[in-house]
Amino acid sequence: MSGSEGRAAAGGAGAFDRSAPDPAARAIREFRRRFGAAPAVVASAPGRVNIVGEHVDHAGGVVLPMPIAERTAVALGSAVDGEGLVVSLELRREAAAPPPANFERLEPSSPQAWLNAAMGPLRLLADRGVQIPSLCAVVASEIPIGAGLSSSAALGTAMAAAALRWTGQGLDAVALARLVQDAEHRFTGTPCGIMDMLTAIAGRRGEALRLDCRTLERRGVPLPDALAMVLVDTGVRHALASSDYGLRRRETEEAARRLRVLSLREVTEATLEQANLPELLHRRARHVLREIARVDRAIEALRRGDLAELGSIVSASHASLREDFEVSTPEVERVVGRILSAHPGVLGARMVGGGFGGSVLVIVERTRLDTVGAALASAGLAAPPHSMRLVRSGDGYTAAAVEGSSS
Ligand code: GLA
Repeated sequence: MSGSEGRAAAGGAGAFDRSAPDPAARAIREFRRRFGAAPAVVASAPGRVNIVGEHVDHAGGVVLPMPIAERTAVALGSAVDGEGLVVSLELRREAAAPPPANFERLEPSSPQAWLNAAMGPLRLLADRGVQIPSLCAVVASEIPIGAGLSSSAALGTAMAAAALRWTGQGLDAVALARLVQDAEHRFTGTPCGIMDMLTAIAGRRGEALRLDCRTLERRGVPLPDALAMVLVDTGVRHALASSDYGLRRRETEEAARRLRVLSLREVTEATLEQANLPELLHRRARHVLREIARVDRAIEALRRGDLAELGSIVSASHASLREDFEVSTPEVERVVGRILSAHPGVLGARMVGGGFGGSVLVIVERTRLDTVGAALASAGLAAPPHSMRLVRSGDGYTAAAVEGSSS
């Protein structure tokens, strides 16, 4: 999907306007303003929307995410007088940063804990022998935080990509994704799977990514032009580190342990039905198995251009996340209910990301986008605390030297 299509769609319903300036340009501009010189490098990485395959990456499952057009950018250069500093434009914060090799995890209660997500990947690169000097960095992002769009993996990926480019080093896609994932586990405390960062690294515009989280095998899945996707922000913010995300992960691991397998990926539904697990673990495992099965059905629906079928798979995923996996909330349910009843052109809807708030993905036929957008707006879903955006697929991460920089 191109930017011009996004704008054309915005023309009709008016609910999808998107005028924010490019975050890379903003980061470079602010870097120059503050530090009086061009940054050495600028890198950026996209957020993601997972079409289907939710809460299965940590169980060795198959997922179908796509990188989105919204990105987080990092402008990076040498520290001025040896004093490292990281500035976040969206958070309106700045913090002194030690040389990456000396960075230690900050307690979540610290006012500077936001640095963990930015500096964690750099510390892990330093641990691998990448010599990163003391640095100044400006972070600019258009990915809303806590909206289920993986702002954290985009920041970690952009920071690592910038530092690698700056130091002339390289890492292959899987090694880079593992490093960013490891940084999430160790520095921000979220025991996430590998889906978000691998999508930010290996995803391509115009495609979703079929990712097998057991083998890390990846395949691009073209998105039909007839498909339009809308995101409705519920306005409910989650914090994955403190939500029940980790508990859900432990529950699926406990189910696998009782079934004597390494991950739920090895189990069939027939085996699960015979296994006599406690009711709660049975439901958690059932979600994982059925959700994995939905991914290839969704890919087949995309191939055939059967958007009604895709919509019903997406809605079935939501029902399973609500009933079996229990990661929805009453507010998310109210929003999903309003979306589904807003217009018959809504083909399906589901929460995306880790759950407990965030955004809802809505499947629509492109020819009906304006009408459906207007109906969603009249249902109050475009006004605070909600907001709506058209989901456009984006490119994976990029990192480049900045013209006019001295290094
Ligand atoms: C969060 C995690 C991912 C994945 C999703 C749920 O986004 O970071 O690894 O587990 O939740 O699918």
